[in-house]
Amino acid sequence: MTTNTALEEKFREVGGKRPYVQRLFGRIAGIYDLMNRLMSLGLDRYWRKRAARYLALATGQTGLDLGAGTADLSIAVVNGAGPGTKMIGMDITPEMLDEGRRKLVRMGLQDRIELRVGDAEHIDLPDNSVDGCCSAFMVRNLADIPQGFREMLRVVRPGGRVVCLEISHPPGKIFGSLFYLYFYKLAPLFGTIIGKAFEEYNYLPNSLTTFPKAPALKEIMEEAGWSDVRYYYLNGGIVAIHVGTKAE
Ligand SMILES: C[S@@+](CC[C@H](N)C(=O)[O-])C[C@H]1O[C@@H](n2cnc3c(N)ncnc32)[C@H](O)[C@@H]1O
Repeated sequence: MTTNTALEEKFREVGGKRPYVQRLFGRIAGIYDLMNRLMSLGLDRYWRKRAARYLALATGQTGLDLGAGTADLSIAVVNGAGPGTKMIGMDITPEMLDEGRRKLVRMGLQDRIELRVGDAEHIDLPDNSVDGCCSAFMVRNLADIPQGFREMLRVVRPGGRVVCLEISHPPGKIFGSLFYLYFYKLAPLFGTIIGKAFEEYNYLPNSLTTFPKAPALKEIMEEAGWSDVRYYYLNGGIVAIHVGTKAE
C-alpha cells in the first residue's frame, strides 16, 4: 500500500479528509506554534508577513483568513495594515482557534481579529462581503481545492484579492532534493521526538505529495474565476504565494 493510499484509508475510516484534518489539528493545537517556528527555522513569520503585504488591505477594510488556526496570518495582516483594518479568521478546528484567542488577548488584538468556526469550502458569509481573502498552509488540507477557491471568489468584493501561502515543490533539482529530504524525513522526526506526534507530523509531508505544483495551482485558481493570477516562490520555492484578483 503506498503512503497516500494508506492516508486515504485513514480519511475513509473517520468519514473523510475534513474530519481527519480537524481531529489532527485538534490534537496538536497546543504545540502548533512552537513546532512551526522550529520546523521552518523561524522562516514562517517572514512568509506570513510577505503574504500579508500581497493582500494589501487598506485602512478600515476587512479581510478573511481561512484556516486561520492560531491566528498568525491575521496578526501579520493587521500589524502591517492601517488602523481600523479588521480580520475574520475561520477554521474548522475549535482547539486551534482557542489557542489563537488566548494569543489575541495577550497581544491586545481581540477587537481587530474575530475568530470563528467555519469551513473554507462552504464559507458562512454573504457574496462580496470582504475586501480580500487569504490563507496560510490551509489549501493543502482541503478535500476539494477548486471548491475552496470558488467560495473565496464568491465572498470577496469585485477588485479584491486572494492570497494563498502554501508549501510548494521547489523547482531546482539539487535544492529540491535537499528540501524533500528535510520535509519527508527530518521534519516528521522533529515532530515525533519534540512534539510526540508521529501520525500528525507524518501527515505533513504526505499532504504535499498530491498537492499541485505552483503552475498547476495557478490554473486551478484561474478556472475557479480568479483573474491576473501570479505566484512568487520564496526561499527557493519551499513555499509559494499565489495572488489573484476578482474582476471588477
Ligand atoms: C497548517 S494549519 C495553518 C494555520 C494558520 N493559517 C497558520 O498560518 O499557522 C491548517 C489549518 O487549516 C484548518 N483547516 C483545514 N481544512 C479547513 C477547512 N476546510 N476550512 C477551514 N479551515 C480548515 C486546520 O484546522 C488548521 O488549523
